[in-house]
Amino acid sequence: MTARDEQSPSPIRLADYRPPAWTVSQIELEFDLGIDSTEVRSRLHLRRDPAQHVPLRLDGEGLELIAITLDGQPLDAHAYRYQDEVLEVEGASDDSVLETRVRVRPAANTALEGLYLSGSREQGFLLTQCEAEGFRHVTFFPDRPDVLARYSVTLRADRARFPVLLAGGNPAGAGELPDGRHWARFVDPYPKPSYLFALVAGRLEKIERGYRTADGRDVKLVIWAEPDVIDCCGYAMDALERAMRWDERAYGRNFDLDVFHVVATHDFNMGAMENKGLNIFNAKYLLADPDTTTDDEYRGVEAVIGHEYFHNWSGNRVTCRDWFQLSLKEGLTVFREQQFSADMNSAPLKRIDDVALLRRAQFPEDAGPLAHPVRPSQYSEINNFYTATVYEKGAELVRMLAGRLGSEGFRRGMDLYFDRNDGRAATLEDFLAALGSANGIDLSPYLAWYAQAGTPQLSAAGRYDAATRSYTLTLRQHTPATPGQPDKRALPIPVKLALFGPDGRMLPLHDGAAEQVVVLEQDEQSFVFPGIEHAPVPSLLRGFSAPVILDYAYAPAELALLLTHDTDGFNRWEAAQQLAWRAYAELRDGSGHEALSVWGDTLAGLFDQDGLDPALLADLLTPPGEVELAERETDVDPARIHALRQALQRELAARIGAHVLAGRYRTLEAQASDALDAASQAQRRLRRRVLELLVLLDAAKAQALAAAQFDRAATMTDRLAALAVLVRSGAPQAAEALERYRTRHAGNALALDKWFAVQAQIPGEPALARVRTLQANPKFTLKNPNRVQALLGTWARGNPSGFHRVDGEGYRFLAARLAELDALNPQVAARLATAFNGWQRLEPARREQARAAVAELAGRRLSRNLAEIVGNMLKG
Ligand code: PHE
Ligand code: ZN
Repeated sequence: MTARDEQSPSPIRLADYRPPAWTVSQIELEFDLGIDSTEVRSRLHLRRDPAQHVPLRLDGEGLELIAITLDGQPLDAHAYRYQDEVLEVEGASDDSVLETRVRVRPAANTALEGLYLSGSREQGFLLTQCEAEGFRHVTFFPDRPDVLARYSVTLRADRARFPVLLAGGNPAGAGELPDGRHWARFVDPYPKPSYLFALVAGRLEKIERGYRTADGRDVKLVIWAEPDVIDCCGYAMDALERAMRWDERAYGRNFDLDVFHVVATHDFNMGAMENKGLNIFNAKYLLADPDTTTDDEYRGVEAVIGHEYFHNWSGNRVTCRDWFQLSLKEGLTVFREQQFSADMNSAPLKRIDDVALLRRAQFPEDAGPLAHPVRPSQYSEINNFYTATVYEKGAELVRMLAGRLGSEGFRRGMDLYFDRNDGRAATLEDFLAALGSANGIDLSPYLAWYAQAGTPQLSAAGRYDAATRSYTLTLRQHTPATPGQPDKRALPIPVKLALFGPDGRMLPLHDGAAEQVVVLEQDEQSFVFPGIEHAPVPSLLRGFSAPVILDYAYAPAELALLLTHDTDGFNRWEAAQQLAWRAYAELRDGSGHEALSVWGDTLAGLFDQDGLDPALLADLLTPPGEVELAERETDVDPARIHALRQALQRELAARIGAHVLAGRYRTLEAQASDALDAASQAQRRLRRRVLELLVLLDAAKAQALAAAQFDRAATMTDRLAALAVLVRSGAPQAAEALERYRTRHAGNALALDKWFAVQAQIPGEPALARVRTLQANPKFTLKNPNRVQALLGTWARGNPSGFHRVDGEGYRFLAARLAELDALNPQVAARLATAFNGWQRLEPARREQARAAVAELAGRRLSRNLAEIVGNMLKG
């Protein structure tokens, strides 16, 4: 099998969807597992749609066909044809049984799609990854999500090399075979699409826990990992139990098999995978221990454990009709995961994190050449559509619907959705129909959100009439053109709002409510609020009630009022963000210091306020990132943005004062603990932020504090924070700290990833030299997606001033790595290539360098994955 697919010129279109002519009611799979060569026998029980008259066509990629029979008869060579990744068979009829035997080569599979080897030949284990279209790399099958079949899977292998044999479903027997071999069988009672098939085989250890579901089923929860990391699975087990309880309480959903397996691998293209009964996790989102895992990573494990578990209903029991409906499972499941995390941790902080991610990852996608709707209308390579738009914007759309229905109405709608669609492959229309009809509401206007790309711009203007004591809010929307969608229509935009008086108190609305939602449905509408006692300061889009870019001409003092008094934690942060934006623009344009003063002084005032959550304070003290700042500019110069953002933060630090910062640092240091509770995490988050501000004012002092913190740190959070401050500020202590970190964590892949990543964040010109050096480090390999992300991803996608060199060397270096990586792993290459997104808005010198590098790459022979990204990048 070659990792490099042929470039396919013709896209797949949503409009071309047809139900399958042939389906499979049942499949019996038998694997004779080996690292170099695995033999797969499959018996398909076929069903034919009597209305369609097309021959049987099955997907199969890179399969070596050994034998084929139809209804027990070996097939003549002229009765079938395997070519262009399709097996066509003549003579099949309804109820036919097609049996094939194929050989696949796991150790040679570097694309990590289908059956592959994780780790070394000697110690590693075998596993599969089938979403979206990996099953066709395992056996012949109609590999599309609307073909739901019952799976019976038998695994055979050498017992010493593969003591553990796992597949999804319930265990249905195991035993010995001659020659030191053994077997195990799993039967899944729930019909499922092929992308949810999985197997795992190798030397793994486990931790186990019994669980009784709310509806009384006794389930065994088992987490599997390689022996050296099995001690790091306890946190994930606890998180799994929390997630299962939460889904029972919040959605009334119970687990439905006798056993639930979770497996950790270091070699994985994505975060994790919800295979039925056998979730497979990137180790990064499963392993956790106090010495190597940061607070953010702990929350990441909890969130992803929840996410994959929640898929058991939103994705598995109710699956997707086709891949255009991907957000049906992903947007919904991200939303469920966000609710879970918000319930387990601080809800406002979670909302801030989620919106920051949306702005950093999804807004740029929606504004550039790769923009696509949450439900795309066409694709060339589906793996390129596991995007922030499908996931994060998709979650925002579910949140809007949930807000529209209220929590009880949403639950009613979800119950009906699961009820109606259980065991089906559904569409987004089915989802909206169920939510709507459970509530007697027509939600179809929201479908436009799924079909239209681009982030709507919402402008708001308020007018207070003292004579009639009424306040009029005028809202206007506009969505800029995106590739292939020149004209945009008005979308329903729910705007949650409250009004604040000059003293910072909320003004009651006419019905006495504090908060109200108005829905903008046209291009422009006005909403009148009677009985308002004062000219109000509006708190708009509370909790980020719609994924739009809001423009309202606040005076800086009005933002300060919201920052100080808003009762919506998210909107307090948002006010700080807006002020920081304005302050940044003042610095950039030399247009005064009004916003800068208000921003700095207000935050300085809040700095010592009692009762303010230190974690929220840390977020309030963080201005928009460099990627977000670049979003609103043309002729982008990332070096200048970096310098301005540093200057902005230095101003903030100066207004708080070195003395106050250092004092707070010492207080926080005195409270330091290695506990994982919210208060300890908040303390660490603020401590890091204070150190980052202090280093801009008094580098030597802050670096000495950081070096001491690095020495004594009791948690990875504190250790890594200190290391990052030293490395990014170019501290004299940095080299030694890096070396000590490397020695200390040499045996731990995830900790070592952070060693690569922290250095990839060095700002400005020196970054590339460091990346080159690290790329030559023996511990670096293009074969491991986490390592690639840690070094190249962090640099190219997370360090704009380091990547966008004016001489274009960064672009050429990345393009060369992409070409190498593409030959090994097209999915990872394509994702990394999105680092070029936004190149059209760069200042002319960089723009030309970037264009040339992308064009040169496009001229090579590339995988379908990378070709599509690079091609779109040049089109837009
Ligand atoms: N379905 C996975 C998730 O979101 C993501 C994934 C996609 C993993 C494709 C592997 C391959 O939970
Ligand atoms: Zn998912």
